[in-house]
Amino acid sequence: MKIGILSRKASLYSTSRLVEAAEARGHEVRVVNYLRCYMDITAKRPSVIYHDFVADRNAAEEELHFDAVVPRIGASYTYYGTAVVRQFEMMSCFSVNESQAITRARDKLRSMQILSRAGVGLPTTTFAHSTRHTKGLIDRVGGAPVIVKLLEGTQGVGVVLAETRKAAESVIGAFRQLDANILVQEYIKEAGGDDLRALVIGKKVVAAMVRHAAPGEFRSNLHRGGTAEAVKLTPEERRTAVAAARAMGLSVAGVDMLRSDRGPVVIEVNSSPGLEGVETATGVDVAGQVIQFIETATSRNQKARTKG
Ligand SMILES: Nc1ncnc2c1ncn2[C@@H]1O[C@H](COP(=O)(O)OP(=O)(O)OP(=O)(O)O)[C@@H](O)[C@H]1O
Ligand SMILES: [Mg+2]
Repeated sequence: MKIGILSRKASLYSTSRLVEAAEARGHEVRVVNYLRCYMDITAKRPSVIYHDFVADRNAAEEELHFDAVVPRIGASYTYYGTAVVRQFEMMSCFSVNESQAITRARDKLRSMQILSRAGVGLPTTTFAHSTRHTKGLIDRVGGAPVIVKLLEGTQGVGVVLAETRKAAESVIGAFRQLDANILVQEYIKEAGGDDLRALVIGKKVVAAMVRHAAPGEFRSNLHRGGTAEAVKLTPEERRTAVAAARAMGLSVAGVDMLRSDRGPVVIEVNSSPGLEGVETATGVDVAGQVIQFIETATSRNQKARTKG
């Protein structure tokens, strides 16, 4: 098969592992920087054109054709990246995650609403436009301590633990002053600074790790000094992870959960989960399983087409 990895950098761990896994399984694979592609969206025969203007302004242009693509779209390039993925979909190319599902997953608030509707366990979470609603936001998540989260945050940077109501009110006020969108969330104290990352492919959890926060820290992000190790998930945790990925419409997802007193609660579903942490912690060949998933899914599509 011809497989395209849509990624800005071939040297990234996840990208190079996907290339390696695809080659090992006998596929023709190529890394394509989606920002160097443009597209003809109106043609009878829609196309994606690659032009490496960085290498050479006058470089030859080239139409791309793949049987399948693996989107690894950076958070800052969601809009253009998903447009490229959608264009490949128009060309009957299989995408590991559909463009729509990637867009959906990038909006944290919308994601939580979708998960809630699907009956997936979540920390109690509130959201408001006006600071006049601050009291209600805090009361409804059970009062202090609370977590205040920037909707746009990443790597733990926009996540604050407010130990008292006064602290929560100040943080909410400050963020809203800057026009930032925030969620107020029940603090899952019993998680004890651990969070779970389940790697879901298709209908299965293929690998899972627990991340421990550094001493004195409640955020378990590896960028904040957290450490990771393999973990055996309970059946309920597996079911929750698979249900979350499914509700989001993602075939490959990194589902983050906390162990709360009332069972697993999902805090995030990632559409381009990094492979380095999870492969290192668990020793599972996740990249290989992604490629295997493509093989199964495309041969199933093929059969459906010949039948129809
Ligand atoms: N409601 C909560 N209760 C307890 N701890 C939490 C809660 N929400 C988040 N945390 C801790 O803080 C960490 C960071 O939170 P979260 O994953 O929501 O934000 P982020 O990592 O900045 O965003 P992203 O995962 O999108 O990069 C989590 O990994 C978890 O350890
Ligand atoms: Mg996180």
